[in-house]
Amino acid sequence: MRRAKLSIIGGGNVGASCAVWAASKELGDIVVLDIPEMADTTRGKMLDLAECGPVERFDANILGTSDYADTAQSDVVIVTAGIPRKPGMSRDDLIQTNVRIVKSVAEQVVEHSPEAVMIVVSNPLDAMVYTAWKASGLPTHRIVGQAGCLDVARFRAFIAMELDVSVEDIAALLLGGHGDDMVPLPRYTSVHGIPLGQLMSSDKIDACVERAKGGGGEIVKLMGTSAYYAPASGTIMMAEAIIKDKKRILPCAAYCESEYGVAAPGTPGYFVGVPCVLGAQGVERVIEVELDEGEQALMKSSIDHVKALVQSVCETFPELA
Ligand code: LAC
Repeated sequence: MRRAKLSIIGGGNVGASCAVWAASKELGDIVVLDIPEMADTTRGKMLDLAECGPVERFDANILGTSDYADTAQSDVVIVTAGIPRKPGMSRDDLIQTNVRIVKSVAEQVVEHSPEAVMIVVSNPLDAMVYTAWKASGLPTHRIVGQAGCLDVARFRAFIAMELDVSVEDIAALLLGGHGDDMVPLPRYTSVHGIPLGQLMSSDKIDACVERAKGGGGEIVKLMGTSAYYAPASGTIMMAEAIIKDKKRILPCAAYCESEYGVAAPGTPGYFVGVPCVLGAQGVERVIEVELDEGEQALMKSSIDHVKALVQSVCETFPELA
């Protein structure tokens, strides 16, 4: 049986952390690609990781490179390329630089792996998935954005810390874009099946929601750069669902038209954070949940933010419209 092949574009903190989580889960062979100026560093990092194999007990070919030919025939390609934010910056401030980078990456990725499922991680996430989709020409089910998995992991972690229970027992749902207006849904959050509201006061729930929404910024403030362990682990949870055809229900930025009222009939859709079934085909299904009026209003404003971001991409780069 052929091992799965996972390529990661961008060998910085997020990309390298993705490689570590993927190796530890023995997902398959791993290629990490960075720009030619970083080729030796990337080769070194991946050799270092390969040397963990005997201790961590994974068998995989692990390669650092700057040559897209080495990524050929990947099953999954993760795009982390782009600049991260610095203190005081929002994710949206990265748009001009990262559209250029992600566009060129996506074009080169499909040239070598036309059958891959592409997971986009670069920020501002919702605009970068759109950019990668337009630049790659991949069918919508084979392009998906990471963010919901990270955001919901943060939400679950904060709830577990507050309740002093296992993170494993927290199941939560989150919708919308990967901005400060993302929409964690306490009404769809439970602790081993027990509705969250039975175990936590509404003030404390609100505090967990707000902390999850600002979770990326909290880390940028502390470290001077973006988070990487949790973004990478959320990404690899998606890659694992695809490579093992697990059909997991995970919150991801998936292409939506009528779903959640994202686009008016007859108009093009957008990639927005929604629960979807992830398997070998990529996004196999988007799941719609009932929202009350308040949740609908929050979702609408998050979708409007995503649309504004995409519009600004299209204004500056008309070839992506
Ligand atoms: C974060 C960045 C990676 O939320 O968007 O940490």
